[in-house]
Amino acid sequence: MLPKLIKYILKESPQSQDLTIYGWVRTKRDMKNLVFVEVYDGSCFAGIQCTFDRNTGFSEQVEEQLEAVSTGASVKISGKLISSPASGQAVEIIANSIVLLGDAPAETTADIQAYPLQKKRHSLEFLREIAHLRPRTNMFGAVARLRSRLSFAIHKYFQENDFHYLHTPIITAGDCEGAGSMFQVTTLDLNKEKNKNIDYSNDFFGKKTYLTVSGQLEAETYATAVSRVYTFGPTFRAENSNTTRHLAEFWMVEPEIAFADLEDNMALAEDFLKYIFNAALNECEDELKFFDSYVEKGIIENLQNVINAKFSHITYTDAVKELEKAAISSSNLFEFKPLWGCDLQSEHEKFLTEKVTKAPVIVTDYPKDIKAFYMKQNDDGKTVQAMDVLVPRLGEIIGGSQREDDLKKLENRMNEMGLKPDDYSWYLDLRRYGKVPHSGFGLGFERLIQYISGMANIRDVIPFPRAVGQAEF
Ligand code: 4AD
Ligand code: MG
Repeated sequence: MLPKLIKYILKESPQSQDLTIYGWVRTKRDMKNLVFVEVYDGSCFAGIQCTFDRNTGFSEQVEEQLEAVSTGASVKISGKLISSPASGQAVEIIANSIVLLGDAPAETTADIQAYPLQKKRHSLEFLREIAHLRPRTNMFGAVARLRSRLSFAIHKYFQENDFHYLHTPIITAGDCEGAGSMFQVTTLDLNKEKNKNIDYSNDFFGKKTYLTVSGQLEAETYATAVSRVYTFGPTFRAENSNTTRHLAEFWMVEPEIAFADLEDNMALAEDFLKYIFNAALNECEDELKFFDSYVEKGIIENLQNVINAKFSHITYTDAVKELEKAAISSSNLFEFKPLWGCDLQSEHEKFLTEKVTKAPVIVTDYPKDIKAFYMKQNDDGKTVQAMDVLVPRLGEIIGGSQREDDLKKLENRMNEMGLKPDDYSWYLDLRRYGKVPHSGFGLGFERLIQYISGMANIRDVIPFPRAVGQAEF
């Protein structure tokens, strides 16, 4: 049988019942007659205090084990659960036995380095270098629990709203976003092929293939068959951007809905985000309190406000006007000059959501030349039915659009952008046979976790970050 987790033991009513706990030692304090060992198992923040009382005369073996125990060691402790006389905890264990399962030396010797997570504050930069041990800290334990519960909440939201969970391929032949930032997948020995015109018909798949940048195109095929689908999986971008909000491997949630226009898409994005914020507040209360105290003051109140407010909407054209106005009245405000036709820089996005709307904002109708080929073209011939959801501190958290469902317009756009319609013939079939207006979006899961937790660097909200020059662990 699996051991009872500490989060449940802490909620039990103490009646001097016998129990055994398993976990890792957070601290040990030896106070003459009493030895206090705090043990945690990652099921919650708190550890449980185990008190060893020398007055009760425990065995030499217990004394030996206690001597060997230090921060980070794994232990099995048995004793009785009692009401704690100490403040700050309801219960504790009066322990009578302890087994050291694995020690974690506090001092470096010739054989082994000292356990790096001694009880003190460590910088996030240092913890990134020991990403295999950092989940043992309060901070990363909290991030792990938040990620896990919110993953579940995401599935719950879509399942409750009649979306089907779709598994889209990791290996693809097309570039969904057309940004050219893809990782190639090949079994050819490229060293041997050097300087030759590589013939990819000899490659594993008989053509050039990549790690997917988005499951959207495949999601469209199922949305136009079973009406509502969502994907939730890893995506890959070989973008050479070393920022606090970009990863080379990240998790994306992509709903795709048939018989839905951009308005429906925006409403879904807002409803979905608010549901997830609520789930965070209700199901990760302790974790959010921790982030609120130690990472970003005010995040709980902010989330509550966001849930109760309506997201504002602004067109790209109006957004650029706001930015231009601001840039004129304060000349050093932006590093990049806001200009119609250019992509919004992260500083522009942050300005819009932090200063103009002071809340999440959905920017729509971007110029077609800075967006992907599949977006529905507006009648003005210049803009497309795109939407980006921007939030304070981060900027873009969601990107989506209504999809172009007119075959001719889509083919023309592909040609204009240098894509070969023949390569996407299966995708174009969705416009040839039983086409419907349809829409969808992609939420970057790590950006969501960043927004909710206040964690500044995206590398600290994914267990094993992959970024330029970084694929350790
Ligand atoms: O805006 P993006 O590129 O949109 C798409 O991929 C569409 N195919 C989605 C769709 O319509 N189904 O990416 C969507 C979101 C962004 O808003 C951002 O939150 C996140 O994915 N994202 C990244 N997160 C971390 N690291 C990166 N390099 C990211 N690139 C995008
Ligand atoms: Mg985008």
